[in-house]
Amino acid sequence: MIRLGIIGTGGMANAHARAFGAMRGVAITACCDVNRARAEAFATRYAIPKVYDDYTALLDDGRVDAVASVTPDSVHAEVAIAAARRKIHILSEKPLAGNLPDARAMAEAVEKAGVINMVNFSYRNSAALQRASRAVASGQIGRVMHVESSYLQSWLAQDAWGDWRTSDTWLWRLSTAHGSLGVLGDVGCHIYDMTALLAGDIGEIACRLQTFDKGLGSVHVGPYVLDANDSFVSTVGFVNGAVGTIHSSRWASGHHNSLRVRVYGDEGAVEVDLDHSYSEYRICRGKANLRKAVWRTVTCAPTPTNYQRFIKAVRTGAPDPSDFANGVKIQAYLHGSLESASLDSRPVRILL
Ligand SMILES: NC(=O)c1ccc[n+]([C@@H]2O[C@H](COP(=O)([O-])OP(=O)(O)OC[C@H]3O[C@@H](n4cnc5c(N)ncnc54)[C@H](O)[C@@H]3O)[C@@H](O)[C@H]2O)c1
Repeated sequence: MIRLGIIGTGGMANAHARAFGAMRGVAITACCDVNRARAEAFATRYAIPKVYDDYTALLDDGRVDAVASVTPDSVHAEVAIAAARRKIHILSEKPLAGNLPDARAMAEAVEKAGVINMVNFSYRNSAALQRASRAVASGQIGRVMHVESSYLQSWLAQDAWGDWRTSDTWLWRLSTAHGSLGVLGDVGCHIYDMTALLAGDIGEIACRLQTFDKGLGSVHVGPYVLDANDSFVSTVGFVNGAVGTIHSSRWASGHHNSLRVRVYGDEGAVEVDLDHSYSEYRICRGKANLRKAVWRTVTCAPTPTNYQRFIKAVRTGAPDPSDFANGVKIQAYLHGSLESASLDSRPVRILL
């Protein structure tokens, strides 16, 4: 039996509790939140026996083999490093950290401790993304030349997910002082991860960030200063020589949560559109199809989720590709994007 603790019991923790709670051979034995009432309600909801309001107490109690850290981005580093020091395996939420030095320190800590480490880039749960990335890697579309990626949300434009003005879960995402890197860090990390998985590593980024007036007559809501970016637009160069555009916004009216990547090669193209399907991707390849621009839909057999892969890695000791080292790479893309934006969108090289 693998004993799991969940640290941070806000919105996303429910996905962790449901996924791990449904797995054979896994018991959620403890949970923790600085907001004790929230942790207690969570423990009641998922029948978790032990509740903490201090994660170090949870880690020190000897009741867990592994933890899921579902805390705000700026808290990920301290939790992961503390877990690693106690030889506790860790699945950390995305992005890996609030900044690149913290991300590197996390990767060093888990490497030194020899514990299983993963970042929950949850769109890797999509069989379409996994299989399409294998199709590109195996040369099905030839040499990758051009990429277009977008991640579109609209929770600042409408309230389908609740009113952001009155909810901490949205407000911390709008405030750099609360550790947010804006839409770039919050969901840009997903679309950078998805793009790199499909098209290859990124070597250069030129990025523009925009923070829009939210029509409140003030940039303050309680303790939150609404200064984090709401939109980003990057032009990127891939290590393999391809070029691409990657962009995201929280003001994309008409889209709740739309991720799409198109990769064009000299012998074909693939499209992963998660609004369309998590288990189907589209491909255009072969001379006759290319000439007529005929696309075929590929239906994919299920692939294991991040949660399943984390438990498998803990059981077998074999690392997963969505590890902290990959998390550092994505963090370097975020860092490079911020640096470029601060230099009037000049291209910057990505140094890992
Ligand atoms: N993988 C995904 O698709 C996905 C989706 C949503 C959120 N996330 C990530 O999950 C994390 C949490 O996001 P959320 O939407 O659940 O936020 P949230 O604000 O709803 O929940 C965070 C919880 O952490 C608690 N917390 C803060 N500091 C803590 C500490 N030191 N120790 C213990 N608990 C602490 C807060 O009180 C809160 O209950 C973020 O990193 C976010 O980027 C990932």
